[in-house]
Amino acid sequence: MENDSLTLTDNRTGATATVPIKDGAIHSTDLRQFKNSPDDFGLMAYDPAFLNTASCRSAITYLDGDRGILRYRGYPIEVLAEHCSFLEVAYLLIHGELPTEARLHEWNYLIMHHTMLHENVKKLMEGFHYDAHPMGMLISTLAALSTFYSDSKVIHDPQSRKLQILRLIGKVPTIAAYAYRHSLGLPYVYPDNELSYTANFMNMLWKKTEPKYAANSVLSRALDVLFILHADHEQNCSTNVMRSVGSSHADPYVATAAAAAALYGPLHGGANEAVLDMLDLIGSKDRVPAFIQEIKAGHGRLMGFGHRVYKNYDPRARIIKQIANEVFEVTGKNPKIDVALEVERIALEDQFFVQRKLYPNVDFYSGIIYQAMGFRPDMFTVMFAIPRTVGWLAQWQEMIEDPEQKIARPRQVYTGQPVREFVPLEKRTPRPVMVA
Ligand code: CMC
Repeated sequence: MENDSLTLTDNRTGATATVPIKDGAIHSTDLRQFKNSPDDFGLMAYDPAFLNTASCRSAITYLDGDRGILRYRGYPIEVLAEHCSFLEVAYLLIHGELPTEARLHEWNYLIMHHTMLHENVKKLMEGFHYDAHPMGMLISTLAALSTFYSDSKVIHDPQSRKLQILRLIGKVPTIAAYAYRHSLGLPYVYPDNELSYTANFMNMLWKKTEPKYAANSVLSRALDVLFILHADHEQNCSTNVMRSVGSSHADPYVATAAAAAALYGPLHGGANEAVLDMLDLIGSKDRVPAFIQEIKAGHGRLMGFGHRVYKNYDPRARIIKQIANEVFEVTGKNPKIDVALEVERIALEDQFFVQRKLYPNVDFYSGIIYQAMGFRPDMFTVMFAIPRTVGWLAQWQEMIEDPEQKIARPRQVYTGQPVREFVPLEKRTPRPVMVA
């Protein structure tokens, strides 16, 4: 205790206390013993946006942002991307261990036999406006699944949790593909359980009149790797939402819908769509320097750059850059890659970005690949949500099983009025109105 501890003195009162340090952290509630007066609530830690607050213990994903390291359950992301299928990695994230061959076979079978949607879910999706954003469709449909699976409410039953996890991982590509086909006015394609997870997804997206759609193996493997890279990323914004909503014991469908809503924002998973808009706006390589000057002058952000945790090159972006070349061999080069490479080259040499440790993140190159494969930018965040569903569910399950977790309920530092005397309506005089 002597060495693994922190001694604090409250200069308001002179009180001193020693609090334990465990795993590099102190417990915030240990600060409560410092009180200004006997009826004081006690000292709190103020941390808007969780810049330095661990909200949980987790054994799923390890991230060292300074050294650019990402590991799932202890395995480096580069190794998993090279040797595993996406569903193998999904098994690892959910169960904590890599599957044996027999277990993987069973897991693939189970996931692929939960890919069908209830016909009424399909009807519900048919009701969306023709130009509905596919992320809006995905979020709403995920929430709607809650009404189809009332058995999902028994979140403390491990068997029920397992079933909901299989359903969600199985169905999310089907919802995504239906959303995509809806926007094109094409009839929905039912899942084919004999195909792999990504080949089935491609079949549901792109099958036209041919009796059997044959997915290009380079593209389906590229999709598999992209899904592996996006599967989890410890306590990011959407995962925090998944845990927070799940902590109220809401069912996993509505919690996943809430997490997907958080992912939709342009500062999070929506960044890949924003990167394409940015590259369109820049237009050509020769206009990159002027665009970078605009950013430095405070006009907007370089989308796909910077990260709350990575202060080094995002290891996922490095792998994605390699995949881009393999995909372009099949699809032809997306001309935006030249603009993107020029943005990266200039930004990485510029002191503005160097000093702030702003490097390309996972979203910088992924959209360029998805566009080359034939996706419109409004599908990019959906492509992020499919694999991240696995991470959300792994984190949700860990949270439910963690005896230290309770309903997520932060405190606040109140900055409003002290108690005031009520003035009847007829006696009120005009006051300047506060805009919140
Ligand atoms: N372009 C220009 N300046 C930036 C950028 C950027 N992309 N990102 C951060 N900065 C600057 C920011 O203005 C600030 O400068 P100063 O100290 O002079 O005020 C400094 O860098 C620190 O920024 P911050 O906003 O305090 O950093 P944060 O950790 O709160 O934000 C971020 C992280 C990812 C929201 C931010 O870097 C950003 O907005 N990036 C662009 C959007 C993006 O690519 N998001 C995807 C993130 S990775 C995948 C995912 O999470 O889904």
